[in-house]
Amino acid sequence: MMDIRPGHLSAPPVIRREEYRAPEWLVPEIALEFELDGSRTIVRAALTVERNGEHKLPLHLDAKDLDLRRLVVDGKPVNYRFEQDVLKVPIDGDRAVVETEVAISPAANTQLMGLYESGGLLCTQCEAEGFRRITPFPDRPDVLSRYRVRMTADEALYPVLLANGDPVAQGKDAAAGTHWAEWHDPFPKPCYLFALVAGDLVVNRDTFVTRSGRSVQLGIWVRDGDLAKTEHAMAALKASMKWDEEVFGREYDLDVFNIVAVADFNFGAMENKGLNIFNSRYILADPDTATDADYDAIAGVVAHEYFHNWSGNRVTCRDWFQLSLKEGFTVFRDQQFSADMGSRAVKRIEDVRMLRAAQFPEDAGPLAHPVRPDSYIEISNFYTATVYNKGAELIRMMHTILGPDRFRAGCDLYFERHDGQAVTCEDFVKAMEDASGVDLSRFRLWYSQAGTPTVRASLAGSGAEARLRLEQIVPPTPGQSDKQPMPIPLKVALLDRDSGDVADERLIILDQARMEIPLGDAPQRPVLSINRDFSAPVVVETDRGAADLAFLSAQDDDPFARYEAMQQLMLDTLTAAISGRGVDHEAVVEAVRRTLADPSLDPAFVAEAVLLPSETFVGDRMERVDPEAIHRRREALRAELGHRLETLWRDAYAAHGANRYEYNPAAKGARRLRSIALGYIAAAGAEDAPALARAQFDRADNMTDRQGALGVLANGDSPEREVALAAFYDRYRGNALVLDKWFSVQALSTRDDTPEAVEALFRHPDFILGNPNRLRSLVGAFAANQRAFHDASGRGYRFLADTILAADKLNSQTAARLVPPLGRWRRFDEARAKLMRAELERIVAAPGLSKDVFEQASKSLG
Ligand code: TRP
Ligand code: ZN
Repeated sequence: MMDIRPGHLSAPPVIRREEYRAPEWLVPEIALEFELDGSRTIVRAALTVERNGEHKLPLHLDAKDLDLRRLVVDGKPVNYRFEQDVLKVPIDGDRAVVETEVAISPAANTQLMGLYESGGLLCTQCEAEGFRRITPFPDRPDVLSRYRVRMTADEALYPVLLANGDPVAQGKDAAAGTHWAEWHDPFPKPCYLFALVAGDLVVNRDTFVTRSGRSVQLGIWVRDGDLAKTEHAMAALKASMKWDEEVFGREYDLDVFNIVAVADFNFGAMENKGLNIFNSRYILADPDTATDADYDAIAGVVAHEYFHNWSGNRVTCRDWFQLSLKEGFTVFRDQQFSADMGSRAVKRIEDVRMLRAAQFPEDAGPLAHPVRPDSYIEISNFYTATVYNKGAELIRMMHTILGPDRFRAGCDLYFERHDGQAVTCEDFVKAMEDASGVDLSRFRLWYSQAGTPTVRASLAGSGAEARLRLEQIVPPTPGQSDKQPMPIPLKVALLDRDSGDVADERLIILDQARMEIPLGDAPQRPVLSINRDFSAPVVVETDRGAADLAFLSAQDDDPFARYEAMQQLMLDTLTAAISGRGVDHEAVVEAVRRTLADPSLDPAFVAEAVLLPSETFVGDRMERVDPEAIHRRREALRAELGHRLETLWRDAYAAHGANRYEYNPAAKGARRLRSIALGYIAAAGAEDAPALARAQFDRADNMTDRQGALGVLANGDSPEREVALAAFYDRYRGNALVLDKWFSVQALSTRDDTPEAVEALFRHPDFILGNPNRLRSLVGAFAANQRAFHDASGRGYRFLADTILAADKLNSQTAARLVPPLGRWRRFDEARAKLMRAELERIVAAPGLSKDVFEQASKSLG
């Protein structure tokens, strides 16, 4: 056969949503037996299978990299076929027991999918398609089974044996030095929710009494020495359980709930039924090693995985195209939880910043896809900001359109109607419709159309004549050239320029390409506040000038809109400077001055409001990204803000300094503002800035202050910088999670020599290519550093491509997640675009490329 594509013997198959067929065979029961061993584990499975409907088709069992030692049907050998990772097993009757035995090697598993070893621990990761690397099975989410699991292992090496559900029996064979445990999970589940863990672990135990009075035994399992770092996660778990009862009426359903932290993990965490497995960075925290942002992320991820017990596990996905059914909904739920636990305004600002940093670029580039995708080559590539974060915005828009009570009724109906089923995004929307009586037929476009809509808004007239002119543009995306207008819920209010009064907020649904809406009795000099609370995930363009934006940044009663006005003012100022339309920093300086000096504002909000938009965000709003000019102009504005407001920064720094460490919203806000003030003092070029940072670094009694100071020093070239980096390394070299910060802070540096520094760090003895956290901490952070990554020489691109190719050999899923930055070539000048394309072409041509990286790199070439 001819090799049509270099590196690929044949193009990997494309899976299409339209081609969904119900499973031919169901598996109501499965019994699994593991003889656990790091280098060679034996897995025996007994599947009770049932023919689903009238057909004569064989049973299909997915099997990936398995050494099959035995396969019998009702105890007898059969003539099965093995084709492209699928076992085709002929079965005569309508019901049978299929037994298999395979051998696998956890220690050799560098993909971190299936059963693998991490720091002497054996653990599993099955979502999306990892179970087929453990045992032959119809590996699809619409096949739900009851699991019985028996594990046998060396008792000294693996004293703890955990699986889904409840422990039912255990014992030991003293002569052999082994022990065993049996676990049953009474809830039928898809195989992607299967999990086991074996290892030498210690546990933080607690209990939670559910609202119906059942006592649940909670356990957070970690390596010896980490126990003291599990308190925050435990508190978050209990708070999540209570919150889900109160806000969504959802109660936990098993007698035990276990969480295990592992150091090598492809993602944040995994919601396996009754046995969540976490990337240790989302469990372990104490003030000395974790920042406030880490604490927040831990609470958010613990809640997210716990919430999946209902939104994901009790009601699961029919197929992987429906991924946002569980992920979008669960992200919305964890966002609401975090908003209730802290500052709702600041949480919304953070969530929108994240959406704009990760999802908007995705939606605007070659990898754009709908929230419910239509096709994929490798499903792991679709665990994206679009499916997760834009998906959450879709749920939020339904919440906004229906209002909280009808939304809750929709959720209740959804859970009641579909408990125990594998369903679709359509089923979710239908439940919302049925419970509320609101027609969401056009709303469904949000699931099928990719691309971020732009809304143009302007006011015409005033007083009784005032009208709001709205226009929407949904841009073309790959495979979708023509778009229909979407229903866009916009929260709108008018402010009176003279009195500062805010008229009642109203919800406008922009559902046509153009609309003109009479506003009734508007003020004589109205100022428009629109997309308040970021009610829709769109880009808003208005004709509001610097004066209006400055006015809103001081007067708007919606905190998000107030923040947004400030951001827009900063953005307009920067884009004017970058495109040579004149440098006028006055409005920004005055707006920041007013915000800093307003004692009525929450310092956590002030900290967000005074931050300039990131270099990447400025780039996203430009016709063509000029990384050098953006960097220069943004640094110039930072310097001016630092210099002109130096007294205020120093006041803010002093006012919020010197508190003893406490973890609460007020203390967190104070720490955040303090480090931002320090950054501005340094940007002003103040002579004492390095000494100030060094003093903060040395005296800090918590990681937030220490890392904040280190970040400021890392951007400069003072002698203090080298001292602090060395001290940080020496102090934390034994702590992988903190060492990740040491790599990141250097990869994110604004210094000119960052590209070289990152290449050198790649060769550092502590750089571990196979550990996803370490890889992302250096290479992921570097690729997010716009100016450094887009160094005109192209060395950043070459470095990233080299890293992707090296990582792909070990862990294709994690390697593929590094590809998107190279796919943004269309947004840059010709010289850079050419260099980026050349690297993508080099990747696609590489022999032995995974389908994960192949899909991302070939699509990125566009
Ligand atoms: N379902 C997980 C979540 O909570 C995502 C996840 C965990 C995952 N591990 C993974 C996705 C491995 C793909 C591959 O969001
Ligand atoms: Zn999730």
